[in-house]
Amino acid sequence: MKTIAIVGLGYVGLPLALQFCRSGAKVVGIDIDAVKVAALKAGRSYIKHISDESIREQLDSGRLDATTDFSAATAVDAVIICVPTPLNKNREPDISFIVETGKALAPHLRKGVLVSLESSTYPGTTDEDLRQVLEAGSGLTAGADFNLAFSPEREDPGNPQSVVATIPKVVGGLTPACLAKAQEIYGIAIKTLVPVSSCRAAEATKLMENIFRCVNIALVNELKVVYGAMGIDIWEVINAAKTKPFGFMPFYPGPGLGGHCIPIDPFYLTWKAREYGQSTRFIELAGEINTRMPEFVVHRVGDALNAFRKPLSGSKVLVLGLAYKANVDDDRESPSYVLMELLKQHGAEVSYYDPFVPVIKLTREHPQWAGTRSVAWSKEVVSSFDCVLIATAHACVDYAQLAEWAQLMVDTRNALPHLAPSLHYLKA
Ligand SMILES: NC(=O)c1ccc[n+]([C@@H]2O[C@H](COP(=O)([O-])OP(=O)(O)OC[C@H]3O[C@@H](n4cnc5c(N)ncnc54)[C@H](O)[C@@H]3O)[C@@H](O)[C@H]2O)c1
Repeated sequence: MKTIAIVGLGYVGLPLALQFCRSGAKVVGIDIDAVKVAALKAGRSYIKHISDESIREQLDSGRLDATTDFSAATAVDAVIICVPTPLNKNREPDISFIVETGKALAPHLRKGVLVSLESSTYPGTTDEDLRQVLEAGSGLTAGADFNLAFSPEREDPGNPQSVVATIPKVVGGLTPACLAKAQEIYGIAIKTLVPVSSCRAAEATKLMENIFRCVNIALVNELKVVYGAMGIDIWEVINAAKTKPFGFMPFYPGPGLGGHCIPIDPFYLTWKAREYGQSTRFIELAGEINTRMPEFVVHRVGDALNAFRKPLSGSKVLVLGLAYKANVDDDRESPSYVLMELLKQHGAEVSYYDPFVPVIKLTREHPQWAGTRSVAWSKEVVSSFDCVLIATAHACVDYAQLAEWAQLMVDTRNALPHLAPSLHYLKA
């Protein structure tokens, strides 16, 4: 039985750990967050779409353990790193979580082990940055004494059809032997592996997938504005266009980009490209269009209120949906925060409703909203707002009820597709 250490037990690391356990491997999860480790050991999930039972099942089988102690990596066949890769305040890559993990792991590396990085990052992170700290701290040589690989995660939070074991997984190794080792380890848990020639090719694949989404979302966001000015509903157009059986893939507009990946990863490439004297104009343009979306939406809210002779300043606005996408509890990089900030700057009185985010946790990005609670879902509460702005369309919300209760709705998600646009309902 192989033993795998998974470092970083978040949205990526925890499902992967459970999949390895279900496939018969022994897993020790390592995280610097003692609260997460304690929750796991007690059989409690901290991610909405992962059940307590799925964790308890693996604890009971004796295949799952968790710790904050990196020395647990001494006795394993492989270490898989799933730590965050955010942007710093200047919107440059912050790979400090990877570097810190490498430093903490290095003294515990033993010969023959596989170290595989899963965090989304620019080409070169694995074979330059991570390799350097691992070699310096262990005295071992990557490719000779231990195996080094990169294998990007393809988690699709909130999609019940997305099962870790059946999503094809790209793998690149530092050497052919590293790749072979990575295929052997991942082959335990993942049905289809897609080997590529290097860690860099694997890193570039992940960035390409996310850049593809970012650019296409920017395109539909631009078309939304243009078609909107012409009185054409972008949602109707996309639904018609997607009946084309070839050469078209639907992307949907929204109030801006959110989540841990799409707003961030493209800029990892932009930054690295500069080192090679290359520019990334498509990515920059897409970023610019997507970043402008919240402003566009707030303008639409202002226009909608205007029709009722109400100024945005002093109006009560309810933002519906705080998570960055439907049916998840993840509010990282959520455009709802930008919307709430902009509305507040215009003098609106802002509240939010999100059954998955009952209270806003303290974060570095939005300390001013920490402790704010979701309003209750009732006719009395909802009808007390001058406008409800639909930012994220969770499936559990009763939109028919909303339409009955709300004085005015501005919809960025086509949550009420059968409702004709009117003074009381408009799309943004
Ligand atoms: N969430 C997604 O849907 C998704 C999809 C594909 C790729 N990714 C990528 O996967 C990576 C992880 O993302 P996530 O969403 O799981 O993040 P997350 O914030 O949910 O989890 C990261 C975990 O790493 C832990 N951690 C931070 N520093 C550490 C350290 N030095 N040692 C040990 N643990 C440490 C944190 O405590 C946290 O539990 C990122 O690079 C992200 O871009 C995420």
